[in-house]
Amino acid sequence: MADHLNKVLELRMTRRGVVSGGASMAVSTAMGCSAAVVEPAPEAIPEPIGAPTSGFKEVRAGYDAGIHWPQDTHACDLVVSWGDPILPGAPEWEGGRTTAAAQAQQFGDANDFLAFMPLPKGSKNSGHGLLVANHEFTFPATMFLGHEGPLGVDQIRAEMVGHGMSVVEVKRTDSGWAVVADSKYNRRITLHTPFQITGPAAGSARLQTPEDVEGKRVLGTLANCAGGVTPWGTVLSGEENVHVYWSGDPQAGTSAQQQRSFGSMGIGEMELYKFARVDPRFDLKACPNESNRFGWVVEVDPYDPSSTPKKHTALGRFCHEGAEVVVDPVSQRVVVYMGDDTADECLYRFVSTGKFETGLGAANSRLLEEGTLAVAQFDSDGMRWIPLAPGVGGEPTGLTDVLIDTRLAAEAAGGTPMDRPERIAVHPQSGDVYVMLTKNPGREQAMAANSRTHNLWGQVLVLHPGADGHVSDQMKWSILLEGGPESVANVAPAPKSTTEDGRLSCPDNCAFDQQGRLWVTTDGNPSSRRKMGKAPQADGLYVVQTAGPHKGHSQLFFRACVGAELTGPCFTPDNSTLFISVQHPGRGRDGDPSTSWPSRLGDGVPPRSSVVALRNKTPGPII
Ligand code: FEO
Ligand code: CA
Ligand code: CA
Ligand code: CA
Repeated sequence: MADHLNKVLELRMTRRGVVSGGASMAVSTAMGCSAAVVEPAPEAIPEPIGAPTSGFKEVRAGYDAGIHWPQDTHACDLVVSWGDPILPGAPEWEGGRTTAAAQAQQFGDANDFLAFMPLPKGSKNSGHGLLVANHEFTFPATMFLGHEGPLGVDQIRAEMVGHGMSVVEVKRTDSGWAVVADSKYNRRITLHTPFQITGPAAGSARLQTPEDVEGKRVLGTLANCAGGVTPWGTVLSGEENVHVYWSGDPQAGTSAQQQRSFGSMGIGEMELYKFARVDPRFDLKACPNESNRFGWVVEVDPYDPSSTPKKHTALGRFCHEGAEVVVDPVSQRVVVYMGDDTADECLYRFVSTGKFETGLGAANSRLLEEGTLAVAQFDSDGMRWIPLAPGVGGEPTGLTDVLIDTRLAAEAAGGTPMDRPERIAVHPQSGDVYVMLTKNPGREQAMAANSRTHNLWGQVLVLHPGADGHVSDQMKWSILLEGGPESVANVAPAPKSTTEDGRLSCPDNCAFDQQGRLWVTTDGNPSSRRKMGKAPQADGLYVVQTAGPHKGHSQLFFRACVGAELTGPCFTPDNSTLFISVQHPGRGRDGDPSTSWPSRLGDGVPPRSSVVALRNKTPGPII
């Protein structure tokens, strides 16, 4: 179970984690991230590529109420928070008294993946653009502050709207980044937004419901975690933990095939939300096919606010994390690398049948409707991509079933169970494919690319496509780094210059800068350290060298407040700004510091997931 699911579960059961009014600790000076003043800063020190970066002072590891970044050299803007009004006429956020009507016009909860899309479209403008955010889940403890017991129907309706995605126009001024109010581009996508289903499974019997007898149109998206950006200017978003939204007995009245399907996705095993109380499509008995319509990669065109988003069945159905898109330079086919972020699930690749054509613009989206979906199989010498075809190993017998029950097809094909593949990014120069593997404490058997049993710390895996490029059926692999404190046995040696502050654990999301440095955010460091009897340290954002004598060297650049993980790192085209999501601040445990971030501690308001923008006080790239 993903770390944040533990957090959701905990917060749904208790309000203990959202201690906002305590005066028991001093307010950190690093608490707020405000519209920063551009001050003179020391001259940036040029660094050869591959050397540890010294253009900033490394942040100290720790665990407290505030966020931390290198304040001497860098500014941090609070861009947008859960509940901020983004549509015309939207009400102001009312601190823990959320309604569906208000939330439909406000920035959603638990922002995760971020994409910066420059304005005008096709430009490299780094001071003005559209920010696309995923809203992965909702926290009733903060949405309905002070509420005890089961949620009422109005509160459940508010949760349904708190999920989804947001598009907001953002602009940089002398005082930092801010949302453009009432922009024609600003948009909320919620559980009520119509999506078009595309690809081979569209229209199939298993996607048909009483509301959609054709099986080609579904309302809403759920559990959107990471994603990707296409070369034709749209945004992809992965529906990840879609199994926690359904009520009823998965064994009742459904076919044996559908029961196996539920089992493969864990549907019916964990009911964190009660959406079925207000919408029968979330009742497994009343609407057994509805859950087949979630767990896909969705595509949104942020430049066209009236466009209908899509769910692409050709990319398979599982707990989708990211969707890293690259045009293979040799074949011109579109390749999408995808992880299934569940312990012992697999890594996937989609290769389009057709070829990318620059002149076609957004019409290239059709390339995601037909292609070959393959699962990764690793051994000590390399890895291969095994196409998922009907009937392999006797498992799903038709293409539609392969796509709906991708996990069953992957297992039958011999896909390697991985240590939770999260975000994936392609190196801008080498074309190597970097895969964040967060952790897998339950791993009993070590295997290639997943070499530690009871892996609490995760690793960064690299695939080397080689001369045959991204469509190659065989690739080499290596490990860039293994996570964990230096004192943990079996950690691959990091460069000697790596400090204990800079050693990362539980790599989760990532982005490359133009120089090929990998920026990694982490998820789960505090809980892994606790399990080892160590004092918790907050999750962070680290900059990691990927080449040269200091390859694998990581430095802590930004530290989350207590309870939060960091997600969604994304750069403007010139690398002058790095946006990140501070997701679910305030998920505390007994004995943890309190936080109301981004508000001041003691304000009596709940903490809020937010987007921040980091930038160098000296004009130019972030480092
Ligand atoms: Fe939603 Fe895989 O983290
Ligand atoms: Ca996460
Ligand atoms: Ca994630
Ligand atoms: Ca995660």
